[in-house]
Formats: sequence, structure tokens, C-alpha cells
Amino acid sequence: MKREELIDRIQQLKKDKNAVVLAHYYQTGDIQDVADFIGDSLGLSIEAKKTTADIIVFAGVHFMAETAKILNPTKKVLLPDLEAGCSLADSCTPEMFQNVKNKFPNHTVITYVNCSAEIKAMSDIVCTSSNALKIVESIPNDQPILFAPDKNLGAYIVKKTGREMELWEGACVVHEAFSLEKLIKIRLKHPKSKIVAHPESEEQILKYADFIGSTSEMKAFIIDSDREVFIVATEEGILHGLRKEVPNKILIPAPVYEDNSCACGECAFMKVNTLQKLYNCMVNESPEIQISDELIRQAVKPIERMLAIK
Ligand code: 13P
Ligand code: SF4
Repeated sequence: MKREELIDRIQQLKKDKNAVVLAHYYQTGDIQDVADFIGDSLGLSIEAKKTTADIIVFAGVHFMAETAKILNPTKKVLLPDLEAGCSLADSCTPEMFQNVKNKFPNHTVITYVNCSAEIKAMSDIVCTSSNALKIVESIPNDQPILFAPDKNLGAYIVKKTGREMELWEGACVVHEAFSLEKLIKIRLKHPKSKIVAHPESEEQILKYADFIGSTSEMKAFIIDSDREVFIVATEEGILHGLRKEVPNKILIPAPVYEDNSCACGECAFMKVNTLQKLYNCMVNESPEIQISDELIRQAVKPIERMLAIK
């Protein structure tokens, strides 16, 4: 089916089935264009929680769709491809996590939202990249913290807050692929540019960045800034909407190491979703996110605790 026909049919299916399409900034441009809401992981969670639609079509990765289901369990939550995973979430299995938790029985467990429902259920509070500092600061100073699964975000919080935290050794394959050497070369060519980076990036990149924030925060910074050139250290999907919103600004994707699997800044997990698969999942109402009532009951607590602070 041609792209235009797919788009028309998706729009019709949304009306017929009272469905809403929520998309992350890292989705392909055509998926973002059919979405009713595009956002970062915090924004998408809030939107999923408040929607009155019967079906949530989640164009993102598995942990995000799970979070939507946990926050609004009476809705049918569809994910175009169940293979849309995340290297961070995959690095932290419940068995491994329980072993680490056993070593730190008195620590408050803070988990980055990029983890499975099982890991969330084992946590005291969840955070996203846009509220991680606030969440850590909400924990009393004398209370030790175990933070998982992103070591780069964790190290960034330690540096910003001065809090000691035990860090899980996980990382994002996309944000670990940026090359500082190449980044410096681009900066030298564009001395007035601003470097904006996601906190999942390695410390050496964050040290060199002018602004660090979640995908929504990076977007807002670029839109509001009076500079013309930006080097953007996050997944390239974020550039799709930005290029429409600030057509006169020059947006340069941060360069990656040559031996990066695709030599690009794309998240292969995010990109397994396609417009065709999104259409198919709306027709078939499958694949659907299924989580037991008991797991939802446990996993919702740390997420709601986060949303109360935001
Ligand atoms: P955001 O919270 O900025 O949406 O980031 C999600 C993510 O997966 C980054 O790689
Ligand atoms: Fe996970 Fe990284 Fe992909 Fe985000 S960009 S979904 S953290 S693998």
C-alpha cells in the first residue's frame, strides 16, 4: 500500500476504533506525522494516563507501551512491533537486579523509566530524563540510593547533585556511539554553534555540551535559542519535527564512531516500528501489551510516586 493510502486508512481507523496514536520523537517521520501526540517518555506517560480513547497505539519501544498500560490498564495498548526493545531495559533482568538489591537492602531504589514492568515493580520510585534530578533531590540527603539501569544518566545526576549513588552498569547503545573527537571537529567548523545532548550520553560528551536535557527539553532549548547552528547528540528522529518548527536553523546530528553498527545515530529498536506495522496493528488490534493485574498493582506505585513530583 502507498504511504498516502496508509495514512488515510490510519486516520479512518482512529475514528472508527476511538484510538489515539502516541509517538516518541525517535519514531520515523511518517509515524510522527500521523500521531495525535509526540513527546518524551514523561510527556507520553502523562498523555497515556489521561486519554479517554479506547485504544492506545503506542509508537515507541516496549517499556514505554508497558508504562502506558500500567497507568491506564482498562485501555487496549498496542505496539506495532513487540521487538521494539531497548538496550538499557534489556541489560537489567529481574534476577540480576534482585541480586544487586540484596547487596544494598537499605538503599532507596530509583529506576530510570527505561526498564521493564518487573524492574519498576521492584523499585521505590521511577524517573525519566526530564525529572531525574528532581526525583533524586526528593530523597532525604542521608538516605543512600541505588540507581538503575543507566550509568551515564546516573553519573550525570551524581555530578549535578553531589549525591553518592550506587549505579547499575547499563547504557544506551545509541548515546554511547557519539564520538567526541569528531564532535570537536564539527564545533571548530561552527564556533558559534550550541551542542545539545541527552543525559544518556557519555560523560566526555556531556562535559562538552552547552545544554543537557530530555528530548523535549532539547527541543525547547533549540526552539527558544537565538543561535542558528546546533549539534544534536541524541537519536536522529528528533530532527524531523524540529526541521519543521525551526526551518531556518541548521541542525547537525552529532557524529558517531565509524564502527557503530549502522554508522548513524538511529535507534534500531525504535526503528523496527514502521507505518505499515502501525496500520496492521490497528487493523488486527495486535500485538497487544499484556501485563498481569498483580504486576500492574506493584509497578504503578513507583510511577505514580514519580508523577506526584513530576
Ligand atoms: P526521553 O525521556 O528524553 O524521551 O528519552 C527516552 C529515551 O529512550 C532516550 O534514549
Ligand atoms: Fe533505549 Fe537508547 Fe533506543 Fe532510547 S535510544 S530506546 S535508551 S536503546
